[in-house]
Amino acid sequence: MELVSLPSEMRRIAEDLRRRDGTIAFVPTMGFLHDGHLALMREGRQRASVLVVSIFVNPSQFGPNEDFERYPRALQKDLEKIERIPADYVFAPDTRAMLPADTETWVEVTGVTRGLCGAHRPGHFRGVTTIVAKLFNLVQPHIAIFGEKDFQQLRAIQKMVHDLNFAVEIIPHPIVREPDGLAMSSRNAYLSPKQRNEALALSQSLFAARELSAAGTRDPDAIVQAARRVLDRSADIKLEYLEAVDWETLAKPSAHRSMLLAVAARVGDTRLIDNIALHNPA
Ligand code: PAJ
Repeated sequence: MELVSLPSEMRRIAEDLRRRDGTIAFVPTMGFLHDGHLALMREGRQRASVLVVSIFVNPSQFGPNEDFERYPRALQKDLEKIERIPADYVFAPDTRAMLPADTETWVEVTGVTRGLCGAHRPGHFRGVTTIVAKLFNLVQPHIAIFGEKDFQQLRAIQKMVHDLNFAVEIIPHPIVREPDGLAMSSRNAYLSPKQRNEALALSQSLFAARELSAAGTRDPDAIVQAARRVLDRSADIKLEYLEAVDWETLAKPSAHRSMLLAVAARVGDTRLIDNIALHNPA
């Protein structure tokens, strides 16, 4: 496994791999890896001859009052975990090499980034799509794997790839959860044991809604209410949003189509997100 830190070197390697007919799978991450990240890597490993993983804590997707500075970092441990997959290349560029101070070009997806997290984190998705576009240009992957944990991010990347004619296929990967249901996240490391327990209400609220939906209730308002009743039991959860949206477009839901129920909340200072698909059985 080779560690690459220069963007120019990453591009040279990718061009070389492409000339040799290799298929390149790519998993972009911000590091502090957990089993969710590793599941994406295994998927990529199976689907292509070469696996590239990137580790880059992207400052442009953090707001001024968010956790960029204290975002957990553990490069050595991450490399050991990736070695066990194994990946072929780990691209871990410097902040300034990847995002020079004189950057003037940004990639912005408008529609699907409007609601949900986009409404609460101005500039966040612009930072994500810009860095992912740059990573795609450097790594030149045939396929790239993204987790459904960040469902709106997945939709934004899919829209960017479609609108800008990127030659990469986006493969979604289901959410990987702890045995008790909590969605795995690098930010779970911020939680005290008590908060970790409180945080379970997020996934539990989604599971309650899924049961209702599976039993035949398709009214979006009724579904949201069922989830909210579970969240209301936890005094220490500050809800940012709990919304049912159309699973494809993330716009207004319809009982006749598949829906996504998405939640964002703070437990203490830690912002957590989760979601569940409520597919239309018809
Ligand atoms: P990060 O939060 O490190 O996540 C990297 C990838 O892992 C994303 O595709 C994310 O959806 C996926 N992932 C995280 N937790 C998961 C879980 N529990 N189950 C399944 N997949 C999970 O997302 C980012 O980094 C950044 O925004 C990035 C795309 C790298 C751009 O900077």
